[in-house]
Amino acid sequence: MWLQRLALGAPGPVGGLALIMRRSIIEGCAGYLPERIVTNEELAARVDTSDEWVRVRTGIQERRIAADDQQTSDLATQAAERALANAGMRAEEIDLILVATTTPDNTFPSTAVKVQAQLGATGGPAFDIQAVCAGFVYGLAAADGYLRTGGADSALVIGAEIFSRILDWEDRSTCVLFGDGAGAVVLRAANGDGSNADRGILSHHLHSDGTLYDLLYVDGGVSTTQKSGYLRMAGQEVFRHAVNKLSDVLLEGLAANDMTATDVDWLVPHQANKRIIDATARKLGLPTEKVILTVDKHANTSAASIPLALAEAEADGRLKAGDVVLIEAIGGGLAWGSSVIRW
Ligand code: ACO
Repeated sequence: MWLQRLALGAPGPVGGLALIMRRSIIEGCAGYLPERIVTNEELAARVDTSDEWVRVRTGIQERRIAADDQQTSDLATQAAERALANAGMRAEEIDLILVATTTPDNTFPSTAVKVQAQLGATGGPAFDIQAVCAGFVYGLAAADGYLRTGGADSALVIGAEIFSRILDWEDRSTCVLFGDGAGAVVLRAANGDGSNADRGILSHHLHSDGTLYDLLYVDGGVSTTQKSGYLRMAGQEVFRHAVNKLSDVLLEGLAANDMTATDVDWLVPHQANKRIIDATARKLGLPTEKVILTVDKHANTSAASIPLALAEAEADGRLKAGDVVLIEAIGGGLAWGSSVIRW
């Protein structure tokens, strides 16, 4: 029972004994954005769209686009180096490296091993996580599992994407929505008492439903066309699933921690569309002042969007030690999930 609770991360004392439970604390986070800014007006010169259409439907004003000579591993390494500096740790102190990405440098090896080599942290496990826009939440859950069960004492979890390379730049319904970037967090194992007052990651709830595969996918790949292909999306259906599934999975996380929306200090959502974020927050009863928004400047950076938003909110002093922070994301698969973090 004790072990079971330990493994599942269920809070609270067992048989009157105080638990000592390993938690993953976020020691540092940081983002990296490519230099080149592309505004809605610039896109309007290329496809039949307008700044007003994009702003009103999505909240996006501009996005960053990687330089031709930049690969996903380059963006990831920059974010990782900054996160390590923010945590006051050296790359050699990191046991595990996970990169959540849908736009890897190569079919193999993983982008994570390229980042590992660039950081100079060879020897420990490094691998990629593929859960599209939900990749960071999935990666955080995987790394947290290693740390909780003693498989690692520290980890780097990176979300990094160059979505501009899988966009059909003739398709106005998708090319206006995405941007490039990377974000990273450094996790360190620490002991807590197993209650929801512990600092660190308190819970994860992950889901996927492969029957909804064709709502959002790339029309290529190694075993189909031998080309990477372009993103295709049924926008309105994705929108509807996003609002319902994200609000449900956030409530699932709160309930598992005996919390309600009034306990939440910050919602740091996946940044796909301001209307999805607003509708999800409304369903939870969270005021807009408690929601971190970066979609206006970054657009949808897929797996990078949450760590980029965490980094921004921490750097400007909004996220403080002890705050209850909810993260959530949904993307191709469909795959979705949430985590509850005591910052
Ligand atoms: N500029 C101008 N007009 C456009 C554009 C554009 N960029 N894109 C589509 N339109 C047109 C359509 O052709 C359509 O024209 P019609 O009425 O003459 O046929 C009209 O605008 C309305 O199109 P809809 O698709 O109905 O527009 P909607 O209000 O649903 O907004 C959007 C589209 C923004 C894609 C929305 O559905 C959405 O945000 N969906 C969620 C998708 C998403 O965020 N995906 C990201 C990946 S998944 C994730 O991260 C959650």
